[in-house]
Amino acid sequence: MGCKKLEMGTLYGIGVGPGDPELITLKAINILKRVAVVYAAASTKNNYSVAVEIVSPHLQENVPVEHLGFPMSLDRKELAMAWEENAIKVLKRLKDGKDAAFVTLGDPLIYSTFGYLMQTIKGIEPYISVQAIPGITSFQAGAASAGMVLTEGEESLTLFSGALGADKLRRTIGHTDNMVMLKVYRNYKEIMDTLDQLDLTDKSVLISRCGLDGEEVIKDIKSRSDKVPPYLSLLLIKKKR
Ligand SMILES: C[S@@+](CC[C@H](N)C(=O)[O-])C[C@H]1O[C@@H](n2cnc3c(N)ncnc32)[C@H](O)[C@@H]1O
Repeated sequence: MGCKKLEMGTLYGIGVGPGDPELITLKAINILKRVAVVYAAASTKNNYSVAVEIVSPHLQENVPVEHLGFPMSLDRKELAMAWEENAIKVLKRLKDGKDAAFVTLGDPLIYSTFGYLMQTIKGIEPYISVQAIPGITSFQAGAASAGMVLTEGEESLTLFSGALGADKLRRTIGHTDNMVMLKVYRNYKEIMDTLDQLDLTDKSVLISRCGLDGEEVIKDIKSRSDKVPPYLSLLLIKKKR
């Protein structure tokens, strides 16, 4: 009697959209309805996840939701260890033949821990099936809330992170028309001062908690340059605004 080979499951990296529960795709919902386990990133400080809150109504009853710890650290060794530990945990489920979803805000391939998870899993098991399901990004939703055109005609758009300060902003400004800066909260004061020095304060809009309770669209950012915004905040900068 032959032994039936167990098929391995697929890991789906699901972009759940920027926060408004109506901005999740049908494709994401259809996959969420049938996965056996859901993963979400957790910081070392807490397990709360807006992404999990958004997907909860779409899951089968009793589907386990597990939080994978990704330390908020710049230490490459510490990070690599965490990615590997998490990848092994997820791989174990996939090898049991279970499909799994890793849920993340916005799009899973834009500044998401899913990117690290996918690459680490593929590094360990190149033949495992991993699929990204695109989501509406925070800055697309932010532009809609601000009523601001992101690009038109021949304009270019540069996306970058403010996590390491305003240096990239200074180096990029001469080479692009429009900019989106995510993760603005940590170096907020430095970023505000740099926008001022580059004469971009009037050309920038700050959007916080887009699509969530307490959403704010701040067009006069000078009036708010002293108050550090929440983690879920981004800047849209248009040179020709
Ligand atoms: C780790 S990145 C995730 C980006 C996400 N994958 C995307 O596609 O938009 C986190 C940053 O995204 C931005 N962000 C995500 N959701 C947001 C929201 N609802 N409102 C404003 N900014 C948001 C903030 O700049 C935050 O610091």
